[in-house]
Amino acid sequence: MTTLGIIGSGNIGAAIARLAVAGEIPVVISNSRGPESLAKLVSELGPFATAGTIEQSANQDLVVLSIPLAAHPSIPVELLQGKTVLDTSNYYPSRDGRIAELDDHSLTTSELIQQRFQGVHLVKAFNNILAHHIPQLARPADAPDRSTLPIASNYPQAATEAASLIARLGFDALDTGAFADSWRFEPDSAAYTRIYLADPSTPDQDLMEAPAAPVTEEKLRSALTHGTRVDVAKRAF
Ligand SMILES: NC(=O)c1ccc[n+]([C@@H]2O[C@H](COP(=O)([O-])OP(=O)(O)OC[C@H]3O[C@@H](n4cnc5c(N)ncnc54)[C@H](OP(=O)(O)O)[C@@H]3O)[C@@H](O)[C@H]2O)c1
Repeated sequence: MTTLGIIGSGNIGAAIARLAVAGEIPVVISNSRGPESLAKLVSELGPFATAGTIEQSANQDLVVLSIPLAAHPSIPVELLQGKTVLDTSNYYPSRDGRIAELDDHSLTTSELIQQRFQGVHLVKAFNNILAHHIPQLARPADAPDRSTLPIASNYPQAATEAASLIARLGFDALDTGAFADSWRFEPDSAAYTRIYLADPSTPDQDLMEAPAAPVTEEKLRSALTHGTRVDVAKRAF
């Protein structure tokens, strides 16, 4: 049986862990503070969840990396060599500091991360949906109102593996191809988090409470196709 390693136990890491255990997928979850700090979360998650070290999470069949972009350098690349790793991160200059190659569009965020994690089969996933919308929109495979999430990877086989996992977690995955085009679902783009809002006119300050509505593959495809590239240098947050 596939065991999922999850590095990062915050909003997104914990939301993915909840879906995994609900689908009886074992998870080994870790964070920066060590397994003891995860006792409450794993008790809530139940028997399919174990708290581990970062090494133990990295050692599983499939790995989710859900930590701030600025924290990536602390994860030893060797731990993840040859593995399929779903990376949820986004570039937030106010949190991660300004990164020239992202501000001047020489790289997408995932291209930058892939440069650092050479030999790791990265898949960009779960980066364009607000954490509290993940449980609201997850549905069984045959549900008519299942939502679609975009993924991207420079490794097609890893994208296929990630899509299978995402399908088990409650979403359809739309493979958008290599990282060069993944700006199409980075922050502020047409396919970013607002696409999953029930009320698209929700003010920014109310986003964290706002309910979600399902997004079809067609709607997502349209946003990906027609969206224009955001001027990252002008983003202050
Ligand atoms: N929140 C959202 O709605 C959302 C949506 C889409 C994408 N994202 C992206 O997904 C990523 C995670 O977001 P989040 O909201 O889940 O963040 P978060 O709630 O702040 O949680 C971050 C997690 O990363 C862990 N961490 C930080 N530095 C680490 C390190 N050096 N080694 C191991 N673990 C480390 C933290 O560990 P400790 O708990 O020990 O500090 C924490 O568990 C970010 O890149 C974010 O931009 C977030």
